[in-house]
Amino acid sequence: MDNNRIKIAIQKSGRLTEHTISLLKKCGLIISHTRNHLIGYGENMPFDLMFVRDDDIPGLVQDNLCTLGIVGMNEALEKKIEIENLEKAPANFEIVSNLDFGQCKLSFAYPDDSTYQDLKNLEGKTVATSYPNIVSDYISKAGLNISVTQFSGAVELAPSLGKADLICDLVSSGQTLKAHNLTEGQTILESTAVVIKSLQAMDSIEETWVNKLIERIQGVLQVKESKYIMMHAPRASIDSITNLLPGTESPTIIPLEGTNETVALHVVCKENVFWETLEDLKAKGASSILVVPVEKMLM
Ligand code: PRP
Ligand code: ZN
Repeated sequence: MDNNRIKIAIQKSGRLTEHTISLLKKCGLIISHTRNHLIGYGENMPFDLMFVRDDDIPGLVQDNLCTLGIVGMNEALEKKIEIENLEKAPANFEIVSNLDFGQCKLSFAYPDDSTYQDLKNLEGKTVATSYPNIVSDYISKAGLNISVTQFSGAVELAPSLGKADLICDLVSSGQTLKAHNLTEGQTILESTAVVIKSLQAMDSIEETWVNKLIERIQGVLQVKESKYIMMHAPRASIDSITNLLPGTESPTIIPLEGTNETVALHVVCKENVFWETLEDLKAKGASSILVVPVEKMLM
């Protein structure tokens, strides 16, 4: 493997995989790979994708075997707390971007028919989880006396196997809990996919590429909501109209032929534009309002 290439650890197969690849493609990365191969090769940029189990991603970045990783915040946080507990030193990676996919919750869940459905009165009970560090941290901060037992998969089976009284696991649609007769309780973490980056010093070429990719990722996220808005507006209402549009910079004002009172006003709006906003614009005298999606943006 070429050591000048920058490695990005991503999930091999799971709920983050498609979104992750699509995000990197939107950043302009052309990836040649086959799914069975565990490496994706960036054809036009010096990035290689390592397809691994999501649980392994933070560790690979921690050990600087990969420079970047795209993983659920839950996995990143679990590793961070584990390292901080074990090594009494901060982890060697940081979260540099929160992404807009992979939404899930880390929640406690109780057998449907149990007498306890909340964290009170659980003195001496046992919780099964794949996130022993996050859960133990939560339990000790909350001053609870619950023991934690680690499962690396199929946590939902722990209560029926008699290994635990309750579980703490990821919930997305809630189907898994339902299928195992479990009721969701307190949520301890709301998670999305995040980009993590090694804190190890990089040479300047690597650093330039890494920063470029992170900047493009942020650009892709921003573009999703952003709209380019064009309208005709009374010159006197330019300020009040701009104030209605969230996240805009100064508008571009273009004179219109044959009138001085009305101008064409163009603006990039970095948040979603709703019908209500258009109606408010119209009430301020705007007309011929066009809202078009933005394809790319570099701030
Ligand atoms: C999580 C969790 C549950 C399931 C919940 O696993 O462990 O099994 O998702 O999702 P649902 O509420 O939509 O049913 P994940 O997909 O992260 O797989 P992994 O544990 O193998 O990484
Ligand atoms: Zn996993």
